[in-house]
Amino acid sequence: GGCKGSEVTPIASDEFFVIAHRGASTYAPEHTMVAYEVAEQLGATYIEIDLQMTKDGSLIAMHDEKVDRTTDGEGLVKDFTLEELKELNAGKWFNDAYPEFANEVYEKVRVPTLREIFENFGDRVNYYIEMKSPKIYEDMEEELLALLEEYNLLNHQSEIPKVIVQSFNRASLIEFHELEPSIPLIQLLSYKEKAELTNQEIKSLNIYASGIGVNVNAVDGTFIHEAQENGLKVHLFSLKSEADIKKALIYKADGIFADAPNIAIDILQNT
Ligand code: G3P
Ligand code: CA
Repeated sequence: GGCKGSEVTPIASDEFFVIAHRGASTYAPEHTMVAYEVAEQLGATYIEIDLQMTKDGSLIAMHDEKVDRTTDGEGLVKDFTLEELKELNAGKWFNDAYPEFANEVYEKVRVPTLREIFENFGDRVNYYIEMKSPKIYEDMEEELLALLEEYNLLNHQSEIPKVIVQSFNRASLIEFHELEPSIPLIQLLSYKEKAELTNQEIKSLNIYASGIGVNVNAVDGTFIHEAQENGLKVHLFSLKSEADIKKALIYKADGIFADAPNIAIDILQNT
């Protein structure tokens, strides 16, 4: 056929990635600037950012499509302008839910935009960005790419990728790959039972993805090894316990999404 695909950019490093899941979300309210700052201080390899988009087209950091769980507001992000969204409190819920980690600072935090996050950290940290629900928003892929360009985060010369983009949505990743093949992409997969990859699936992933992100409870060492043999890095989500972290290391995964990155870093340094 006449259509030549762009090559996949490999993640060349053998380093084990400790990805701070939603920031250091055990210790600070998820997806707030302070949660990312704690992750940086703890020495995480990446800060993980889930993206949603406001009514007026700003990319903001939030896991859910609705603001209800992590702010004092109600409703869908896509029905808020950025100005309206900025009125919400994004930290009080955490102090109520996790009194052992409560902090006065969290009483005042707001939902950060991706722009503010890039302004704050520049190229000091590595970013592992998820396009959440990209199909309910217009041009999420283009908006993300435009911001990465504006903040000089593309084609960065570093040991490990400065930016990795992930999504459960295949169409969105394929679109992103066509727009900017230099950024490694991770296809997220969630299995109810045992994780499996057909040959067909591997072939299709090899066209656009540098790796897969898989729920830890569905994998075993054989699955991970097979994926790696087929050129795919394997990052596991979402690790809460020390046992899960040890399992990821024994199975030789390439990285983990950890709510408490310091626990993983301690284990790595002592093994
Ligand atoms: O993105 C990997 C992992 O974060 C997927 O789970 O629901 O926390 O985004 P979730
Ligand atoms: Ca995520």
